[in-house]
Amino acid sequence: MKRTYFLLIAASVFISSSVVFSKPRPEVKGSMQQMFTSLLNLQPFLASPEKFSSPKNSEIIRKDLNRLAQFRHIFPQEAKNQEPGLYTISRMFHEYIQDARDRFKAGSYEYSRHRLRTATSFCFSCHSRVPSEQNYQDLEKRVESSQLTPFEKADVFAATRQFDKALKAYTDILSAVPSTSLGIVEYTRSLRRALSITVRVKQNPKETLDLIDSVAQRKELPEFVLRLAQQWRKDAQFWMEEKETKKKLSPEELVQKAQKLISRAVLLQTFPADENGDISYLRASNYLHEALEEAPQSQSRVEALYLLGVAYSALQDPTLWDLDRLYFESCIREAPHTDLSRKCFHRYADKVYMGYTGSAGTFIPQDEQKRLEELRKLSDSKSG
Ligand code: HEC
Repeated sequence: MKRTYFLLIAASVFISSSVVFSKPRPEVKGSMQQMFTSLLNLQPFLASPEKFSSPKNSEIIRKDLNRLAQFRHIFPQEAKNQEPGLYTISRMFHEYIQDARDRFKAGSYEYSRHRLRTATSFCFSCHSRVPSEQNYQDLEKRVESSQLTPFEKADVFAATRQFDKALKAYTDILSAVPSTSLGIVEYTRSLRRALSITVRVKQNPKETLDLIDSVAQRKELPEFVLRLAQQWRKDAQFWMEEKETKKKLSPEELVQKAQKLISRAVLLQTFPADENGDISYLRASNYLHEALEEAPQSQSRVEALYLLGVAYSALQDPTLWDLDRLYFESCIREAPHTDLSRKCFHRYADKVYMGYTGSAGTFIPQDEQKRLEELRKLSDSKSG
């Protein structure tokens, strides 16, 4: 599925457009509210394998799945010229929902149910890209009054841009001690989500440090949670000590700042999947998204695409595991035959080799080999 998707990207051309996506259009808000409703409608079914597979519910479930699948139309192709990430996440989300819907129709209920339960990660990834002081107001308090578990509620708040409520719900979870293995998974996810909110949505070093401290000081927590918290603490402390600028940064300054943070994060890591630099990477991604949203055609655009690829490679979000590749590919296509395109190509190729290497060796499918070759030529300094 992923491969078809990349073929689509390869086949598409960059058409120039002056549509600005950083200011939410009214139709975006309307569609989003519709998604919110569909997501909530589905929750009671998602919580129960029996309800989800019962023939008497299938019509109503299918209706909401169809509504969620409408999503593709909200962010049109032109959005890619502004912020390829936004467009791509919307495509990934669409394919994800479509797959869940097809498998539901074919009777693979458990597969479909599990996919849909994690679909909220896409919503959150998109909404937490840039800082925001606004919370979506759900006047009817539909999440509060639902039958969801505290963790599910926290996730739905986060997915629907009710960030203050989400943060409160996550910190409540973090104040307990997880006892089961599922509890530990939910605990670390809550910690990561809460951090994304204080770092990216709120851009607040003090809240970030307080959050980490509230966990790091509790000796009764599992050892690896404490270790993570200790690692992040140093990075958050560094942020606290940074001189705060009140001045609004230009897109170029934002990209420079991100560049510095990434250089720092690389030094903190001792191996590629090392999480020591997470806070710096999260912050960097945030500044880069901001730069692209504010001035999609600024001079630092291609540098921003490259750095976003680097940041998302390091962050290793399982939902968006291919996003880094897309940024590298955009970088090569937008600035062929440059030093940056060569840097992007090396990163792109590394990721492809890693993805297709297993215990039996490396097998790269033909369509992927073709694309690699095409991108290699585009990044080459000699050819035209
Ligand atoms: C591709 C990116 C993307 C994805 C994926 C996404 N959204 Fe949104 N969402 C946006 C944008 C852009 C806005 C409007 C700008 C803003 O407020 O950030 C928005 C706004 C919202 C709002 C606020 C609407 C208002 O009236 O203020 C809600 C609620 C919402 N989204 C729900 C969802 C839900 C639920 C999902 C997942 C099922 C989801 N969104 C997935 C990009 C996305």
